Amino acid sequence: FDVVDVIRAKRDHAELPDAQIDWVVDAYTRGIVADEQMSALAMAILLNGMSRREIARWTEAMIGTGRRMDWSGVQRPTTDKHSTGGVGDKITLPLAPTVAACGAAVPQLSGRGLGHTGGTLDKLESIPGWRASLSPDEMLSVLRDTGAVVCAAGADLAPADKRLYALRDVTGTVESIPLIASSIMSKKIAEGTAALVLDVKVGSGAFMKDVESARELAETMVALGTDAGVRTVALLTNMATPLGLTAGNALEVAEAVEVLGGGGPDDVVELTVRLAREMLEVSGQGGAKDPADALRDGTAMDVWRRMIAGQGGDPDADLPRARETHTILAPADGTLASLDAYQVGVAAWRLGAGRGRQDEPVQAAAGVRMHVKPGAVVRSGEPLLTLHTDEPARIQRAVDALDGAYVIAPAGSRPDLLPLVVD
Ligand code: URA
Repeated sequence: FDVVDVIRAKRDHAELPDAQIDWVVDAYTRGIVADEQMSALAMAILLNGMSRREIARWTEAMIGTGRRMDWSGVQRPTTDKHSTGGVGDKITLPLAPTVAACGAAVPQLSGRGLGHTGGTLDKLESIPGWRASLSPDEMLSVLRDTGAVVCAAGADLAPADKRLYALRDVTGTVESIPLIASSIMSKKIAEGTAALVLDVKVGSGAFMKDVESARELAETMVALGTDAGVRTVALLTNMATPLGLTAGNALEVAEAVEVLGGGGPDDVVELTVRLAREMLEVSGQGGAKDPADALRDGTAMDVWRRMIAGQGGDPDADLPRARETHTILAPADGTLASLDAYQVGVAAWRLGAGRGRQDEPVQAAAGVRMHVKPGAVVRSGEPLLTLHTDEPARIQRAVDALDGAYVIAPAGSRPDLLPLVVD
């Protein structure tokens, strides 16, 4: 095959035959197809789409570039959750230990930030000593000892996605149903979980901005999972405004620890409990211990502490703090009618919580702390948002990103907010 022919075919709206898909995915993984060629193909896919058959084949081809994990050595049923990506979405941190505390095993292979969205591994790496990379034996031992492991996929798990994910992050080719569905499901199928709950985000801070496209993404992924023998369900959840009160790495870890301690923002607690119940249900463990109890009685926190320590982290260590902060004050009295998730995500990214180029390090302490959520009453001069970064020059760029990000409506007005779980 000639890669330029494949790019041209997709550019001209043709359906790619199976053999072409198998070849291009494998050749890219082996470095025969270059990054610039794959970026052109990814852009053509983003613009012109793929049929369900092409998506299924692309996913299989990505799985086929690596190996599948096997958790048959774990005594408990495995279940996992994957979010399509959002702002302030630290849910995995309290969720995995909570589900483990209720009796299931959570073998979660997580990712890094993509575009304006945060990545679970970037967040956990702000804990001193914590290691994202584990050998397969280490993964199994943490999973057996604690019931949950959250770590980086090994180099041999869907390596095609590893390269493509990093490339899409910096080439404007993330927001594509075929590319997102195949990226997520290739990893989750290869990960070997028996059951999977997808948290498909919808709203400005998600890659899918409207309910219709989020539903299409959800249906595409549920079909891919089901066809591969993974019991898969999806929830559509609100990403019009950030989850919780923090966006950024260490800031989000601190908030997750509050939730594990029985406190934390209501939306983070509600979504954690809801997703935990779904994960237990889909793995045939519904009716076991209730996740809300595991957060209240400290058993989820116990799993968290052992899970972090099992990966070299110190659960008692102080988290990094930013050298610079800057607080934005409410310009008027009223009700906070909206706080735009995308703009907060871009601000956190510009403050250093995300990457500008492939392989750039992130700042552990960078991000945005929100002092109020939409619906709250605010008074002129009260803090709305505090920006955190180690590099003062980034503050202005984040302030610019937040231009128009919040709306203060006259006091007494009731903003029309989407529910947390849309469907
Ligand atoms: N998460 C992934 O793993 N891949 C995507 O493409 C988007 C979100």
